Amino acid sequence: MPKNILIQLDCDPQPSTFDAVVAVDAGADVLLRHGGVTVDNVVSLVHGGMFTRGGAELASTAIFIGGSDVTVAEAVAERVRSTFFGPVRLGVLVDPSGANTTASAAVVAAGRHVALVPGTAAVCRAVVLGGTGPVGQRVARLLALKGTHVTVVSRSRAKAEQVVRRIIDRMPAHQSRLEAVEHHGGCLAGSAIARVISDADVIVAAGAAGTTLLDAAGRAAAASARVLIDLNAVPPVGIEGIAAGDKARVEGAAVVYGALGVGGTKMKIHKAAIGRIFAANDAFLDAEELLAIGEELEMGRESPVR
Ligand SMILES: NC(=O)c1ccc[n+]([C@@H]2O[C@H](COP(=O)([O-])OP(=O)(O)OC[C@H]3O[C@@H](n4cnc5c(N)ncnc54)[C@H](OP(=O)(O)O)[C@@H]3O)[C@@H](O)[C@H]2O)c1
Repeated sequence: MPKNILIQLDCDPQPSTFDAVVAVDAGADVLLRHGGVTVDNVVSLVHGGMFTRGGAELASTAIFIGGSDVTVAEAVAERVRSTFFGPVRLGVLVDPSGANTTASAAVVAAGRHVALVPGTAAVCRAVVLGGTGPVGQRVARLLALKGTHVTVVSRSRAKAEQVVRRIIDRMPAHQSRLEAVEHHGGCLAGSAIARVISDADVIVAAGAAGTTLLDAAGRAAAASARVLIDLNAVPPVGIEGIAAGDKARVEGAAVVYGALGVGGTKMKIHKAAIGRIFAANDAFLDAEELLAIGEELEMGRESPVR
């Protein structure tokens, strides 16, 4: 059996140690770590993987794309995709800033408690606080994909609208399910956010580390919420009253998750995804595919690689 070689393409100057450790734990025998990867220098790195092993052995070489600048990493991912031709391709996992695995894990967690099934009669309503960051944008996109009505909240209406437009451009059929709302924190009374918070079935706080986006008054206003998820692990918490380690803790009529409570699922998705890219050289795993993997893991079964 050929060794599993993972080509780690990181857009930051130093490739992530976190991503490297997870890769080894998930089955990479050899890691080729590259930092400072851009759309201009990535092609030769990809060619090196494409033109060495042939036939079935090609799947034993795979690519991980990471880095803290998600926009750069996504452009690199597109360049990698366009470098492949015919059957000469490598399995790819795209997870800059951990945004795709984290967002997928959050949606999997929500789906344990509310029906996230497109086309169901009772539309689930979700609010994504801090919805303009890499993680929040993907949570919003994945929830919209699952048929949820999603409100993206930002301190800037323009930024929230831009996120909504970007999701609609990608998934035009989901246009009616997305809304942008501006909120600067503080008093909810009489604001647009008060309405969406009180109507929400699911609330996800995806704000920057150490920022509280839903205080005690906000929690009290969220009377219909059945799931609250805070992805911020750095004190102070993103949703007051949720501890980082909370995992499906029942609180009144709701269940709550903190960042570490979601982190275990994120790690399982990440490791399973590494396994998938070594199993099929045509696997290209972005947020949607990672959510599908998370849902399969949730059902306790692994489906064949596509
Ligand atoms: N559990 C895990 O494994 C894991 C993995 C990755 C990330 N995370 C966590 O997930 C969260 C989201 O990550 P991210 O990279 O998407 O975050 P981010 O880009 O740093 O921030 C997300 C959004 O938070 C808002 N924000 C920034 N500073 C703020 C402030 N002072 N007050 C209010 N809002 C503020 C901004 O939105 P506006 O400017 O539009 O208001 C920003 O777009 C973070 O807490 C991160 O630590 C967890």
